[in-house]
Amino acid sequence: MLDLDQARALLPNRRIEWFRATGSTMLEAARLVKQGAPAGTVVGADQQTAGIGRAGHSWHSEAETGLYVSIILEPNGSSALPPLMLALGLAARDAIAEASGLDPDLRWPNDVLLHEKKCAGVMAQLELGKIVAGIGINVGQTHFPPEIGALATSLRLEGARNVAWEQLLATLVHNVDYFVAMSSRTLIELFSRASSYIIGRRVCVDLDGRSIIGMTQGLDASGFLVVREDNGKETTILAGGVRPA
Ligand code: BTN
Repeated sequence: MLDLDQARALLPNRRIEWFRATGSTMLEAARLVKQGAPAGTVVGADQQTAGIGRAGHSWHSEAETGLYVSIILEPNGSSALPPLMLALGLAARDAIAEASGLDPDLRWPNDVLLHEKKCAGVMAQLELGKIVAGIGINVGQTHFPPEIGALATSLRLEGARNVAWEQLLATLVHNVDYFVAMSSRTLIELFSRASSYIIGRRVCVDLDGRSIIGMTQGLDASGFLVVREDNGKETTILAGGVRPA
């Protein structure tokens, strides 16, 4: 669990709003944007009672086992989705690697994986001209509800037992600033290098009402994933739902 005083000491001059429990830090951050909170503000919680995931999914947010954070960002640099998602994914991946010694993979567009199971997810929403970036990292869970048990893992379940939560948060916040300032081109290069999913991976992708199976061909200039089906047809994937075939 996070020691807030220690976290504040590692992130001086940074507004941090922390909740024992709240519905979702995305909603708290959106509320703070409406109240004029500056870009850079970090909103976190020990527990979320209605954590939000991508595409209408929920985010399992049990008390004191995960890092649940939203960060208010100014839309500049890589604020177009998907480059923003690439930046957030890289930021989370590197923070996890540094804090745990593990070596996570990235699955386009927003999953951080350890041994093919999700240990973190990122998302972003626009709120009154600001971006609210949401990052959830499974740190200390020893088990998950049956419906996500086959898909989710935690740093602890993967062998990292002594993660310093404050360091993880501080590195994450610095990494977000660092990657979000990069050009789309650099982010596409870095993400392609860090992810095993971008080239030559056989995947199944859920599109509107149907799924396709094919080999990944790389990211296009906008950061979208290109998949070639066995009949040679190339499809540019505009939203998530990518899994191994
Ligand atoms: C995904 O579906 O992969 C994105 C998950 C994002 C979860 C984080 S936890 C902190 C923030 N608050 C939320 O309710 N969701 C995001």
